[in-house]
Amino acid sequence: MIPEIRTYNGRKVLFVNDAPFYAVAGEVHNSDASSPEYMEQIWKAADELGMNTVLLPVTWELLEPEEGVFDFSVPDALIRQAGEWKKKIIFLWFGSWKNAEMMYAPAWVKKDRKRFRRAQITKGKDKSVRDVGPAKIPYYSLSYLCEETRNADARAFAELMAHIRETDGKEQTVIGVQVENETGLLGNAREVSDEADQAFASEVPEDFVKYMKTHTDTMKEDVRREVEHGADRGTWQEVFGAVAEEIFSAYYISGYVNYVAEQGKKEYPLPMFANCWLVHKGDAPGKYPSGGPVSRVHEVWRFCAPEIQVLCPDIYVPEFMEVCDDYSRDGAPLFIPEAATHSYAAPRLAYCIGHYHAMGYSPFGFDDIGKPFTMIQGYLFGVDVNDPALKTPQNYEEYAWFGRTLTSMMPVIAPKYGTEDLQAVCAEKKEENNTLNFGKLKITVSFKHPLMEMPGNGVALGVKTAEDEIFLIGYNCIPMLAAGDAEHMDILELEEGEFRDGKWIRGRRLNGDEAAAMQITSPRLLRIKVYTYCDE
Ligand code: DGJ
Repeated sequence: MIPEIRTYNGRKVLFVNDAPFYAVAGEVHNSDASSPEYMEQIWKAADELGMNTVLLPVTWELLEPEEGVFDFSVPDALIRQAGEWKKKIIFLWFGSWKNAEMMYAPAWVKKDRKRFRRAQITKGKDKSVRDVGPAKIPYYSLSYLCEETRNADARAFAELMAHIRETDGKEQTVIGVQVENETGLLGNAREVSDEADQAFASEVPEDFVKYMKTHTDTMKEDVRREVEHGADRGTWQEVFGAVAEEIFSAYYISGYVNYVAEQGKKEYPLPMFANCWLVHKGDAPGKYPSGGPVSRVHEVWRFCAPEIQVLCPDIYVPEFMEVCDDYSRDGAPLFIPEAATHSYAAPRLAYCIGHYHAMGYSPFGFDDIGKPFTMIQGYLFGVDVNDPALKTPQNYEEYAWFGRTLTSMMPVIAPKYGTEDLQAVCAEKKEENNTLNFGKLKITVSFKHPLMEMPGNGVALGVKTAEDEIFLIGYNCIPMLAAGDAEHMDILELEEGEFRDGKWIRGRRLNGDEAAAMQITSPRLLRIKVYTYCDE
């Protein structure tokens, strides 16, 4: 079986080698994977950090330097290296879009503006200047209306997928592909060329209107209002009112991406994702890439891009948890291909796996873990430099502990996806009640200490492996065990330890003082065996 997304315990779960899998992943900086030689140090970091998967760009420009001439040397080398390091790969197809621009299109595409038309955000201009506050930035991007570009992109992508099938179909090092990167249009909510104006003034396809009108439950408030009040048929403006331009862009972009994915899947149907540059609170489309798969237009993407199985957020904003809740609403699977590398990176990894049963979590530029954020990174990532979390780098050793532990627990945790046997709580979520309920046993987790200050990044992940046995990952927290459904609960065995080759290796037995006061500051994995009973 090739990697696939299956419905498992009522959820969409990634399966690799016929078993449920989650990607303890990291994405490399944009340029690293273009040089397999450079990558050696990055593989080493991924290994130290306990990752099981690495997200690596494959760029159209290096893959197809001349039209119809393909060079697979880079992906081949990356697949070989991944095999040596015993890692899986998720490739990122940097084709027509990279951050709403066209940076990685080949020279023969960039130079032929007639054949591969540009997106116009100023009428008649193939290149515009975007005013982004302190700076004026030149902007050029490929048009989402140009079939010629779409077809050329899809041909290259299909060649890539066919090559991966031929060379890796047995080994299955590559377990998924992100199609394009942060699609969308900057500087305007929609393209404004004559061609775009004409399309915008034409009638919205009937089946699409019908779908939108019957899927308003999940829509954002302002989108729903417009969709509900809009005409049943007519132009984009008539049907979608104030959100028409963004929906128009999303319709064409998602259709384009779906076509690319579809051509790729004909060759090798790996799971496929699309990532997005998030909406920063209050921003209008065009400030963030309009038409990209942000949650405001998920219904559009779901209708137009059925080949894209997961719509993923790149999360650099402080509201990490809100974004996760939003992107996993209605049981959608959560996969985070990019996240910040600051002090919350490791607890968020554990929480995403334990609470959201996420398909994957992947700090961006993971070799920077442990280093302080710079202003340049702040600008590049579009992060809020006032986010207090940014001021504290993620401790490298601690991330490595989380990575190693979660990767080693794959056979214990992954089968529990979609069940109540896997739960997590974290301080960042600021819940009133932080209790892991496992039937006879419950664990109430406190992230505050009466006598001392505790960092606000605590987390606890529990997995129930038998009626009387729980494994607990804890960090900056105080877990308290109590009887759940049963009247009484006694600890029989409390141990710290680790999993090696799927087997529990016990460290210290902790039945004394350490059981009486379980304050956990550095990350730990505990095995808890209890005995529960009721009064006769
Ligand atoms: C989000 C993009 O998807 C990444 O490729 C990268 O450009 C980061 N932003 C910023 O470095």
